[in-house]
Amino acid sequence: MSTDAPSRPVTIITGGSRGIGAAIAERLAEDGHDLFLTYRDRALDAAAVAERCRELGARVELFRAELADLDQAALVVPAAIAAFGTVTGLVNNAGITGRIGPFLEAPIEETDLVFRINVLAPIVLTRAAIAHMSTALGGAGGAIVNISSGAATNGSAHTYIPYAMSKAALNALTTGAAKEFAAEGVRVNTVSPGTTFTEIHAAAGRPNAPQERAARIPMGRAGYPHEIAGAVAYLLSEDASYTTGADIRIAGGN
Ligand SMILES: NC(=O)c1ccc[n+]([C@@H]2O[C@H](COP(=O)([O-])OP(=O)(O)OC[C@H]3O[C@@H](n4cnc5c(N)ncnc54)[C@H](OP(=O)(O)O)[C@@H]3O)[C@@H](O)[C@H]2O)c1
Repeated sequence: MSTDAPSRPVTIITGGSRGIGAAIAERLAEDGHDLFLTYRDRALDAAAVAERCRELGARVELFRAELADLDQAALVVPAAIAAFGTVTGLVNNAGITGRIGPFLEAPIEETDLVFRINVLAPIVLTRAAIAHMSTALGGAGGAIVNISSGAATNGSAHTYIPYAMSKAALNALTTGAAKEFAAEGVRVNTVSPGTTFTEIHAAAGRPNAPQERAARIPMGRAGYPHEIAGAVAYLLSEDASYTTGADIRIAGGN
């Protein structure tokens, strides 16, 4: 019998400084992951998340990256491998919605930004992660979770159709990559939150969106970030060893 202790999983979370990403970080720290957390502006928030995760026993590295800049996005996976020696998990979480409003009024420059952050950066990170993880390329396998949205299938009329389109594209990344790399030890899955209490709604110009939408949610309320994090932890765990291409919808019944 080997006396080697099993090595700890090393997981990258984009947008780990607050909201859903911060809740995922704390949950994964509890589950024994070491963490590589990216953020863009909120260095103090990121440092606070890192501190809480360290108190839970995780090794944590922080990395500032503007993911709308794909050259910066390309640095994330190599920096994580340099810091920890390997990467076993990737959570493509960072995302923006653009401002809430009618489809005809959404500036195309904003849509371009939404697609760079929500779609192109995850492609860049996912390719780099799979190139490292694929057993066909000498890697040890791994798991990727894309944080999509219920918007991908409901279309978000009158709210943010381009955002919904970006999340539908992310869903297709999961479906395709799950199949292409299933035999190479890499699992790819989606978690699709419904409206969740975070600052994303204030950035979209509607800080009270969770309260405003409550009546249209079968459970009568928006979700909390910790209610999303458990599904991500499951999909990255050995319990999900036969799960790939799945989409876990966490939307209070919507
Ligand atoms: N909240 C919801 O109702 C909801 C529902 C469905 C899906 N989602 C999805 O869940 C994910 C997390 O959302 P959230 O509500 O937790 O958002 P949030 O509270 O606004 O946090 C966004 C996170 O992403 C980072 N980020 C934003 N733009 C970035 C950029 N250009 N480059 C690098 N990092 C960037 C932020 O970093 P800084 O802190 O440094 O700014 C922050 O860590 C997103 O993909 C979102 O679409 C959210």
